[in-house]
Formats: sequence, structure tokens, C-alpha cells
Amino acid sequence: MRLIFIGPPGAGKGTQAARIVERFEIPHISTGDMLRAAVKAGTPLGKLADIAMKAGQLVTDDLMIGLVQERIGQDDAKKGFLLDGFPRTVPQADALQTALASHNVALDAVLVLEVQDDLIVDRITGRRTDPETGAIYHMTFNPPPADVAGRVTQRKDDTEEACRARLESYHRQTSPLVPFYEGLGLLKRVDGVGKPDDVTARIQTALG
Ligand code: AP5
Repeated sequence: MRLIFIGPPGAGKGTQAARIVERFEIPHISTGDMLRAAVKAGTPLGKLADIAMKAGQLVTDDLMIGLVQERIGQDDAKKGFLLDGFPRTVPQADALQTALASHNVALDAVLVLEVQDDLIVDRITGRRTDPETGAIYHMTFNPPPADVAGRVTQRKDDTEEACRARLESYHRQTSPLVPFYEGLGLLKRVDGVGKPDDVTARIQTALG
């Protein structure tokens, strides 16, 4: 199964991806997580990415395409994958189509998680992550359990200002992927509002 999750920041892509990869036993390839690991490790890519991410801007297509081409060529991705956060621009989507064709494989579905802008800022500013397990929580909607609460962290780009910049970037640079994948007959729209379990059920229905 080769899947892509698209959606605005805070739509629930990471939350839902963790559940879907378990079901299909495929790797979760999150370009945001890959970039945050590079920032933490202080690599040249991490230093470039850090500036863009803090400002809520996209990292350049060249860097991202190289990163993902290499990742989907690894052994664990041969049986399939779920891409979360890539592609984010039409040039990235074009490059992915070319890379998949060169491996003689194709996408099964592209899911767009739809959440309106006025719900996004609350979701983003309330998000906390467990640095030990990667689990995603929300201080109101899904608070961390007592034994985890003391160690959760907040992402540097989860300020209200950066969130608004990320939303603007989503509408301008990423939302054109919706008609792109609709044109390829791959797009499935999923309502991302409601309880996380309900959203998971909608995704499973959309995937058949
Ligand atoms: P990335 O890490 O991909 O961030 P994003 O797309 O902005 O998405 P988020 O991780 O913020 O949100 P999500 O949809 O995963 O939501 P989550 O499940 O956590 O990218 C970060 C940055 O890296 C980018 O800004 C860019 O700079 C760079 N980058 C990455 N990929 C790139 C690329 N391809 N090209 C260029 N640059 C790239 O949920 C959010 C919160 O809501 C959580 O607290 C959660 O508990 C809560 N929540 C989830 N579901 C629900 C629900 N149903 N109801 C209520 N609350 C919910």
C-alpha cells in the first residue's frame, strides 16, 4: 500500500498516520519528523531547515526531493509506505511520480484531511509530543497521562505566528495538490473534524 496524507498543519496527519501504518504494516515517512531529527543532530540540512521551519516556511524542493527519493528507496519502503508531509508543492509531486515510475510502482491513494482554518490554531498551540515515544497529545483534547506529562515538549514552530504562516503556505503552495491528485483519480477527501477514532474510521472506509 502506497499512501499520501495531505492536509493543513494540525489536520491530524501525524495522529492518524500512526494508526494507519500499524494496520497496513508499512513505514510512516514524515518529512517533518525527518527534518526535526536533522535539526537535533545539527547536520547541514538541519541548519538550513531550522530557519525555514521556525518561520513556518517550506524547505526548498531540491532538498526535500533528494531526501524523500533516498528514503523511499530503502528496503523497508519496498512493500509500501505512508508519506506524511510530502509532497507539499507541485514540483515535489511531479518528482515523486517520476521516482515511483522509475521503480515501476504507483500510488494507491492520496487522502486529504479537511479541517477548517479556525480550528487549526487551537490544535497547534495545544499540541505536545512525548520525546521518548513520539506520541502526540493535546493539552485539552487528548492530555498526556500523568507519567508522561512531565516530559512532553512543544515544537518550536507551534507558536500562533508560525502556525498562521504555515496555514498561508498550505493554501498557496500545497492545496494545488488536491486538483493535481484528483486529476490522477487518486484523491480521497476525509473530514478531519470530530473524535480521532471517528476520523480513523472515515479513513478506513475511504481506503476500503
Ligand atoms: P510537518 O511536521 O509535516 O508539519 P505540518 O504539516 O504543519 O503538520 P503538523 O505536524 O503540524 O500537523 P498534523 O497534521 O500532523 O497534526 P497532528 O496529528 O500532530 O512539517 C513541519 C515543517 O517542516 C513545515 O512547516 C516545513 O517547514 C517543513 N517541511 C516538512 N515537509 C516539507 C516538505 N515536503 N517540503 C518543504 N518543507 C517541509 O495533530 C495536531 C494536534 O491536534 C495534536 O495536538 C493532536 O493531538 C490534535 N488532534 C489531532 N486530531 C484531532 C482531532 N480529531 N480532534 C482534536 N484534536 C486533534
